[in-house]
Amino acid sequence: MGDGGVRRLSKRLSDDLVARMGSGSVDSDGDMQIYRYGANGAFDPELYRAVQTEANRMKIDNQWVPEAHIKILADYLTGAGIKVARGICHGTRRGNEQLWFRSHLPGADVFGTEISDTATDFPHTIQWDFHDVDPDWIGCFDFVYSNSWDHAHDPERAFRGWIDCLAPGGALLLDHGWNYMPERVSAMDPFGISEDGLIAMLDRIGGGAVREVIEGGSHGRLPIRTIVFRKPAA
Ligand SMILES: C[S@@+](CC[C@H](N)C(=O)[O-])C[C@H]1O[C@@H](n2cnc3c(N)ncnc32)[C@H](O)[C@@H]1O
Repeated sequence: MGDGGVRRLSKRLSDDLVARMGSGSVDSDGDMQIYRYGANGAFDPELYRAVQTEANRMKIDNQWVPEAHIKILADYLTGAGIKVARGICHGTRRGNEQLWFRSHLPGADVFGTEISDTATDFPHTIQWDFHDVDPDWIGCFDFVYSNSWDHAHDPERAFRGWIDCLAPGGALLLDHGWNYMPERVSAMDPFGISEDGLIAMLDRIGGGAVREVIEGGSHGRLPIRTIVFRKPAA
């Protein structure tokens, strides 16, 4: 989301929140950039939630990935011999990805998380900050999917939690493409990193090899690639 999006968002936020958003800063580290919510390095959780919720409301009619992409991922899981009983999708706005996974993986229980209070308007969606892990989720999911990880204010914490939620042999599926690059970072999309940087980060956090990167079809005419991290089988 470029400056235009942040300008449109600013019109929907209180003067106080706009000022606080302006006090944030962008840190760069190699091929990664991260927008820090809050002044002087202190995280402002109210600002993060307000920005993400209002941006969600502003774009509530949008759908990022097409069903064809989710079908490619569902077919990949089936082809890899992963029998999906349970899956979770993080940052799902209208909840379409969980509906599409459910339709292409018959019998699978798939739900989504969404930080905005619009979450409960959509089936199989809970209002939840994806940085948090419900203890009941640990080791329970055959896949965890997200195309919204660029909205993380603390990506390492989010990814660690998502890997912890995988069952042995389960797969973490993270989309990558032009819109996840470091130069795209803003208060709305606070984290950007190259594909190689994301793979290195997952290797470091997960302590295992990223298994592969698959071609996931496209968003419009631009390709989506999906990084697949497999938890070792027990
Ligand atoms: C780019 S949209 C993608 C929506 C959907 N996955 C799609 O393909 O259309 C990112 C979504 O993630 C949500 N989000 C942002 N931060 C979140 C968080 N910490 N936890 C859960 N959802 C979050 C936003 O509210 C927004 O609806």
